[in-house]
Order: sequence, then structure tokens, then C-alpha cells
Amino acid sequence: MNLLQKDKQYIGRDVPATPMEIVGAKGNYLMARDGRKYIDFVMGWCVGNIGWGVPEVEEEIKEYDGPDYVNPFYLYKPWVDLAQLLAKITPGKVVKSFRTTGGTESVEVALQAAMTYTKRTKFISIEGSYHGHSIAAMSVGMSYFREKYTNLLPGCEKINPPLNEKAALEVEKLLSHRDVAAYISEPIICNLGVVMPDQEYFDIVAGACKKYGTVFIVDEVASGFGRTGKLFASEWYKLEPDILTLGKGLTGGYAALGAAIMTEEIAKSMEFNFSFYSTFGWHPRNTVAALANLRYFIKKKQTILSHVRTMGSYFENRLRSMNSRYPTEVRAKGLAIGLESKQHGYMIDVMSRCIAKGLLVSELGSFILTIFPALTLDQKTAKEGLDIFESCL
Ligand SMILES: Cc1ncc(COP(=O)(O)O)c(C=O)c1O
Repeated sequence: MNLLQKDKQYIGRDVPATPMEIVGAKGNYLMARDGRKYIDFVMGWCVGNIGWGVPEVEEEIKEYDGPDYVNPFYLYKPWVDLAQLLAKITPGKVVKSFRTTGGTESVEVALQAAMTYTKRTKFISIEGSYHGHSIAAMSVGMSYFREKYTNLLPGCEKINPPLNEKAALEVEKLLSHRDVAAYISEPIICNLGVVMPDQEYFDIVAGACKKYGTVFIVDEVASGFGRTGKLFASEWYKLEPDILTLGKGLTGGYAALGAAIMTEEIAKSMEFNFSFYSTFGWHPRNTVAALANLRYFIKKKQTILSHVRTMGSYFENRLRSMNSRYPTEVRAKGLAIGLESKQHGYMIDVMSRCIAKGLLVSELGSFILTIFPALTLDQKTAKEGLDIFESCL
């Protein structure tokens, strides 16, 4: 049996594996067993923001000689170091980190915290969105999940894009009943192919959350850590979330870890009033890896963020100038890039052609394609990748 057959026999998946055995990752490239080298414009889907195999980060991880495991109830200095750093760099007044294993668990904790704090049970989110695969995360995700699992959480309302003043007033009306625990969305919606709400939308929604006592949760699992050209996409809108959910770029893929970071007031409501336990949340090794990744990022923050904006404009201009077989919309903010075509299956076809020519991009459903290169991507590789992309469009 070859690896693909063994994978089919032993690995649970919802779609078959892409027949590409990855044996290495360096910078902007993935290396396959058959000797092929792929330009990576997926980066694990907003995970590898600083690129794969950064020596400084890898060295620090290799040098780790602390405990293999620490019980979550005990004290461990790197936990406090990481939480303190997150409190410092995140927008608004969020200060206390709940230690999770990744994005889904962070969203799960955020929703539970909102329920504990408000003593309410309803949620509002964006139609078509994605916040993870737990029952609660799917409940606030796309309505398609409800067709599959008919007993997801009740009381979840979805707002349809475009996210403009009209949509915001719809949110406000729902909030005015004072029975909604939380509003949750990405600030720039990577999971809809980089949809950017109007400033007015967030002004009204954030104001209404405050007015009617609803917790304002911003999910930056995908958009966080420089992806859009700011450290957090919330900054483009001057958002001050009550809870911020983090994952992916927080470790850059060097380990698995997430965080639900919230205001002092919400965190206080959880004390002796909420059961949160995550055996592997902020595993000691992963915590050190997250710190190594973050410290590297912060040291180079200005350079990385200005590079993201320059490179983002280059991508946007080139993509807009390309001739496509079917009309295609390009949306971009920094190096978060989405393309959407109404032609069924077209984006999947483009993705398959790209892979065959050595470029990795990813599709979302049948209509959207996303491009999320490393934020440190060099000009030569960017051009090489975009040339391949153009030839597949
Ligand atoms: C916005 C957002 N939230 C939550 C998640 C779930 O994160 P994880 O896969 O780490 O559980 C994702 C994953 O893609 C995401 O994009």
C-alpha cells in the first residue's frame, strides 16, 4: 500500500487528501517526497506568517529544556510572559488570556464567557462565516452546518453581507431586545474570501453591543498577527473587542496554541463561576514556541507590516490587471487576498492548475479562492508565483 492508500485507510477526513507528500518546509516553499518544490501562497491558511523554518525561532525552540508538562493549576513563568505580551500588543482593554489549544477552543471559551457574563444565551454572527468546528463554533458559523447538524445551539441569528449601515441596523435591532450574549465576527472576514465591512457597520455594531450589554467578540484567529498590514485587523476599524480570539499566526505554526483574551470585567465574572480546563492548553513547549515566534515578529514588526502593505498593493495591482476566463472580483487587504467568481467550479479549476504548476493556493467552496503568502515574501518569489497564477487564470 502506498501512503495515499494508507492515509485513506487510517486517517479520518471529510475530503480525500491532496496527493502530495510534504517532507519539508522552508521560507516560502514546501518540499514534496517526489522532489517537487511548491511556492506556498497558503501558509497553512494564515498560520505561517513569518515563513517556515526561521532559524532564530527554531533555535529557541530547540534549546528548550523546561518541564515536559505543567498542570494548568500550577504556576509557570512562560505562561505569564506570553499572557502579559498578548495584553500589551492586543487592541483595546483585553488583558486576561484563557489558555487554549487553538482557534476553535478559543471561540468556544469566548462564547461560554459571554454566556457566563451576560447570563444570556443568544448569539449573532455573519452568514457564511467560519469560527471552528465545535458545536458552539459551528452554531455561529455558516447556516450550511445546520443542514448537517439540526440540533446546533438555538438562538443564533446570522447577518447577510454586504456589511454596511443597513446590516448594522439589523444587528442593532436584534440587540435591542437585550437577550443576546455575544456578537462575533472576524474584523476582515478571511473566511468569506476577505470581505471588508464598512467602517459604519462596525461603528454601529460596536456601539450597540455596548448600549445593550452584548459582548463584542472579535475573531482574529485568521486575520491576526500582521496578515492585513496591521498587527490586528481590528486596528483598521479602531475596534475595542470585549473578547479577542487568537490562534494560527500566534505561533506561526511552530506549535499549537490559541488564546481567548478578554477584559478584566468579563474575566472576573468567570471566577468561581465557570469551569474551564484544557489539559494541553498552552503546553509548556508550545508556549515557548509562541513566545519565540511573537518576539521575532515584534522585533521586526515595523519592517514586516510595511512590507505587507507594499507587497499587498503589488499583489492587488497585478491580480486586477490579469485576464481571467470568467469575471472575477479581487479583494485584498495587505496579504489577505480573496478572489471570487460566480462561475461554478472555476476557482477550483484555477487552484488545481496552480498546484500542477507548483503553486499552492486554496479554495473556499466553489466560488472563492484565497491567497495568504508569508508576510516576509520576497519580490522574486512573489512575481514567480503570480506569473504561475496568471497562466492558470
Ligand atoms: C476565523 C477563524 N476562527 C476560528 C478558526 C478555528 O481555528 P482552529 O482550526 O485552530 O481550531 C478558524 C480556522 O480556520 C478561523 O479561520
